[in-house]
Order: sequence, then structure tokens, then C-alpha cells
Amino acid sequence: MFITEIQLKNFRNYHDLLIYPQKDINLIYGKNAQGKTNLIESVYLASTGRSHRAIKENQLIKEGENGYLIKIKGIKDDIPFSLEIKYIKGEKRQIKINGLLVSKLGEMIGVLNTVIFSPEDLQIIKQGPSERRRFIDILISQTSSTYFYKLQKLNRIIKQKNAVLKKYQHKELTDLLDVYNNKLEDISYEIIKERVKFLEETEKHFNIFIKKLSNNNETGEIKYISSLGFTREEIKKNIHNNIKNEIKNKMTLYGPHRDDFTIFINDKDVKFFGSQGQQRTSVLALKLSEIEIIKEKTGYFPVLLLDDVMSELDLSRRKFLTESILTRQTFITSTEKKNYSQFLDKTTFYHVSQGIVEQR
Ligand SMILES: Nc1ncnc2c1ncn2[C@@H]1O[C@H](COP(=O)(O)OP(=O)(O)OP(=O)(O)O)[C@@H](O)[C@H]1O
Ligand SMILES: [Mg+2]
Repeated sequence: MFITEIQLKNFRNYHDLLIYPQKDINLIYGKNAQGKTNLIESVYLASTGRSHRAIKENQLIKEGENGYLIKIKGIKDDIPFSLEIKYIKGEKRQIKINGLLVSKLGEMIGVLNTVIFSPEDLQIIKQGPSERRRFIDILISQTSSTYFYKLQKLNRIIKQKNAVLKKYQHKELTDLLDVYNNKLEDISYEIIKERVKFLEETEKHFNIFIKKLSNNNETGEIKYISSLGFTREEIKKNIHNNIKNEIKNKMTLYGPHRDDFTIFINDKDVKFFGSQGQQRTSVLALKLSEIEIIKEKTGYFPVLLLDDVMSELDLSRRKFLTESILTRQTFITSTEKKNYSQFLDKTTFYHVSQGIVEQR
């Protein structure tokens, strides 16, 4: 799977961009604040439906303009595909796959698979549970639109349940709460099951990468933390038992929307006990695992997006990463052209300056 054309109109600082990326390494270089990350962001958005820098849709529109367009063409199994996202202020986002309008975002997911490496990745380790849920949810969604729809359903149910909890005073809404709790029970069970399965698979790769990256000195483990438990009985019981507390707090406190996972290096929670280096290695191993999972589940090697990450890695980790990407389509951003001389023959250079890209 690879991208052959990227077209942007009024996206971030791009007024009108058209480039034809090459099959191997595409190095986007230029000074700070010129549009390197914006370009990576547009590809990621076309792949997952979301920006990797969690923001509002309006922020993606070029200042002073009324809407943006992202158009990406590529080839998958020798067959061309195209993806188009068009957004106009105040309107619903329009998505076209191979020129045809689709009604659901979920239909777009999986057409183009990407794995992004960016400085923000460290937040998966350092920040709260929502960053980790985002990681696992995007990973599973890229391989299964069914899962993506389940997440949407979960969010709908929680919203409805919260609305009831806000109004709940005496016993008059108990039946309605029961209805939502039953729905929550089913969907929670399915989402938790899927996340656990994926994390187990991620852990297998993760542990291998951790061992390789630490010269066999370290082991890696990943454990899912469920606020409701894992079996149907546990989930049912916990939803039921906690309802008083939820009524008091006027919101849904327990469910997959509150869950988390913990990463252990040598049996210690890397968030609290890991060194900077161990945390960075963990992120790298997690991302490399993501590539493996997507490859396994979809049969396609994802397009890699490396946003300014090389400068953050030491020599051995950088070598490890470049060795894993050398054969696939990769977009790399950097402020320096010279850092990448080691794979010159495979690299196409693009210079970015104030939203203008020139192939060099
Ligand atoms: N909606 C928007 N409209 C116009 N310009 C925007 C918009 N959003 C961001 N920008 C501009 O885009 C530029 C930042 O682009 P980007 O993040 O891609 O920089 P970069 O080349 O990756 O820089 P760095 O090397 O610092 O990471 C900034 O100048 C910012 O003001
Ligand atoms: Mg940047």
C-alpha cells in the first residue's frame, strides 16, 4: 500500500498543494513552522478520520478561508484508490472513497492504513488513560470498522445514560436507567473483549521489541485495567452495584470509556518507575508493534509517518527504526536534510517553506 498523490486545498497553512510521493522514503524538510507536520497530519487524517493533534475541525481550515479539502490517491494490491475529505465551516464533513460519497466515517477507516511516530507519542506513556485508550482504539479501528462503530455506539449510550443520571431524582427513571445499563453491559463486554485481545497481541510484539532494544536486558508487559471487570457476570454486577454512586455523581463513572492499560518494563510500571530512556523505548516498541498488528490483521504494510522523531532517538534506536522502515513507503519530516544521507538512494526530498513544497 502506498500513496501516489497528495492534494491539499486550504488545509492549515497550505493554500494549494499537489505532490506525487515516491514509493520509498519521502523526506520533507524545512525550517520550523513551515508546514511539515501539517502535511503529515493531513495524511493521518485521511487514514484515521482524526488529527493526531486532538483539535477542533475549524482549526484545520486555513486562516481566513471557509473550508478545506484533502485528496489522496494511492495504490493497494496494484489497484488505485482515492480518498477525499472536504469540510466547509458549519457543514457536515464530506467523505468520498474512489470518487463516491459515503455516509459514514467508518467506511473510510482502513482504506489507507498509517502508523504515525511523533513527539506527542510520549504522552501515551506519560499522560492519563485517555491517551492510552486513544492509542488502542485507533489501532483496533484501523483493522476493524465494526469496532469503530461499537465505539460510536458506546459513546451514544453513555451520553443517553448521563442525560438520565442528570435528571434522576427519585425512582421514576429507574426503568430507563435499566434499559441503558443493559445496553451498556452488552457493548462494554464486546469492547473490553476486543481491547484485551488486541493488547495481548500487542504485548507479544512489544516484548520482542523491548528485548531487542535493550540487548535482552529488559522485558515488556501490557495489562488492561477494566473498571467493570472482564466477564459478563462481573460487568453486569459492577454496573448494577455502582449505580447509586453514579446517581450521586450524575454521570457514568464505570465503563470502557474510563478504562486504561499499564505498561511494565521488568515488572515495573514504566509510567511511574521508568527512566526517560525506558519511556522512549516503550513508545518506540509500542509503535513498532502497531505496524506488526496492522500488517497481520490487514495483510498490508501501513504507510509510516515519522514526524521529527529521529532527533529524539539515540543512535542505536535510530538505527533500529530505520532498519524497520527502509523497505516501505515512509514520510519523514526534519529540519535537517543531512541527517538522512545514509539512505540517499531511496529518498526523495521535498523542501517546505511557508506552505509551498518543492521537490528537490
Ligand atoms: N489553520 C491554519 N491556518 C493557517 N496557518 C496555520 C493553521 N494552522 C497552523 N498554521 C501554521 O502552520 C505553521 C506550523 O506548521 P507545522 O506545524 O506543520 O510546522 P513544522 O514545519 O512542522 O514546524 P516544526 O519544525 O516547528 O515542527 C505555523 O506557522 C502555523 O501558524
Ligand atoms: Mg512539526
